[in-house]
Amino acid sequence: MNLKDCHNFSDFRKLAKKKLPSPIFHYIDGAADDETTYERNTSSFNDVDLVPNVLRGVENVDLSTTIFGKKLDLPFYLAPTALQRLFHYDGERAVGKAAQKFNTMFGVSALATVSVEEIASLVDTPKMFQFYFHKDRGLNDSCLERAKAAKFDVMALTVDTITGGNRERDLRTGFTSPPKLTPSSLFSFATKPMWGINYLTKGKFELPHLQDYVKEGTDTNTSIGQYFSTMLDQSMNWKDAEKLCSQWGGHFALKGVMSVEDAKRAVDIGCTGIMVSNHGGRQLDGSRAPFDQLAEIVDAVGDKLDVICEGGFQRGTHMLKALSLGAKACSGGRLYLYALAAGGQAGVERAIEKYKAELVRDMKLMGCTKISDLNRDNLRFRR
Ligand code: LAC
Repeated sequence: MNLKDCHNFSDFRKLAKKKLPSPIFHYIDGAADDETTYERNTSSFNDVDLVPNVLRGVENVDLSTTIFGKKLDLPFYLAPTALQRLFHYDGERAVGKAAQKFNTMFGVSALATVSVEEIASLVDTPKMFQFYFHKDRGLNDSCLERAKAAKFDVMALTVDTITGGNRERDLRTGFTSPPKLTPSSLFSFATKPMWGINYLTKGKFELPHLQDYVKEGTDTNTSIGQYFSTMLDQSMNWKDAEKLCSQWGGHFALKGVMSVEDAKRAVDIGCTGIMVSNHGGRQLDGSRAPFDQLAEIVDAVGDKLDVICEGGFQRGTHMLKALSLGAKACSGGRLYLYALAAGGQAGVERAIEKYKAELVRDMKLMGCTKISDLNRDNLRFRR
């Protein structure tokens, strides 16, 4: 199997599984507790059916949408995800360049393996920086200043990682950053020699936004759950978020809002967007799927800030359903991470191309030529 055999999400996932040592594959693929929320994030789309219209003249389809004041050519973007150098040696460079090619946004994580400065020199299309509120205030200030100096367009404060999710796959495989060989993982690293060669020869593993301040993640091995639980500030509250929003001074979003009450407070503190998200099911298992929760949030705040539906997307039709409910854009991590592992920049480009082709085809079949044609009349809930 290689890249040309990958036609959809599940094909990219299969190829990623072949290429990655199992602790790394399962870090991407896994979620919290029994992974019920992770599963629901995608299955929620199947409780709603699309109702197409016909005879509308659909030869030209415009997929563009505007979020955070930036026009994107696609109604979905690549959510910030950590540690991309472990999935492919080009890491965030590959993802950023692929996003640029399609003029969609991509997010750089605070736990990224390439710096905001380097990304800014490579990618001139819209960029988001994802921020974790650390106990170390020097680290926090430095992240904000560097992202601002590098002219990132949006700051997204993650609010659903106040403590580490219970990711049992990571406990079983012994996944840490940086990766370490354990008796149980030895075999899996030994069976993926290309990954090992690339890891050792294609540049040092670094966390450029963090490593001047904390050793965890670079010099000291840590699981991501442990990192969240020990390094992030659990006292973080609305005052802190409001302060960060004004300190940033530009487009600011809360990533991981699930309740109407919080969505309204996000408006009050000056946010220009929110990501309705449960962190890909990786934090609170049993929490509601973003798609299930989307309508009430759009109804409450959709005219005041950009509501983005994040997580669970595996098909163009899933995105059409979220956009029909009123999301301004869709985003996801696994959406492109398996493809990154499968084939670097070419893999991510192929994944974006596939979703784009699906969206164009599905829009035509729906009788729609622009994203604003999609609305709730296109949907019927089964229950
Ligand atoms: C995760 C973080 C790092 O879910 O976003 O692993």
